[in-house]
Amino acid sequence: MHALPNLVLVGFMGSGKTSVGRIVAGELGLRFVDLDQQIEEREGVSIARIFETRGEEEFRRIESEVAEEAAQSAGQVIATGGGIVLRPVNLERLGASGVVVHLHVTPECAWARARGHGHRPLLAGSDGEARLRRLFVERQPLYDIIPLSVEGSNRPPRQVAADVARIYRRRVGDAAKPRAS
Ligand code: S3P
Repeated sequence: MHALPNLVLVGFMGSGKTSVGRIVAGELGLRFVDLDQQIEEREGVSIARIFETRGEEEFRRIESEVAEEAAQSAGQVIATGGGIVLRPVNLERLGASGVVVHLHVTPECAWARARGHGHRPLLAGSDGEARLRRLFVERQPLYDIIPLSVEGSNRPPRQVAADVARIYRRRVGDAAKPRAS
């Protein structure tokens, strides 16, 4: 049997890509891959450290490489980093490997989830909330291009995951029947 198409989760920081992704992967019987984690494993340092010592441009270059590699395998749920939409080629490649779903989140919910987590360098410092709002406005048009979208704000990850799994099954058809439990 051929491996199933990938399911690619895209969305702003705090939209729930990782938590939802893990649940959906279990439900669909796909492998879970987190691109942020892949970057850290490959480079042997944290994302915060890459931003600090090598700058955002270099981080984006590595992110594109890791996304390109991930797009070469099938049968995965791929959780991307919030900035994956900044380079259109990333979504072209990931999109060619399967189904892309945007997890929408309000800026309020994103901030409530992201605050206090020291691992997001773009939100570090005392003006984190203002920066989040700026980034949100800048990026919203890039997320809005994605035709398949699920609301991720103020909903339990299980519920969001069920919606995402439904969309994936509808796209992929019979190949992705629910697993007998
Ligand atoms: C980023 C989001 C982060 C991580 C990096 C940059 C962004 O991932 O890739 O800190 O530019 O939005 P999450 O969306 O998983 O927090």
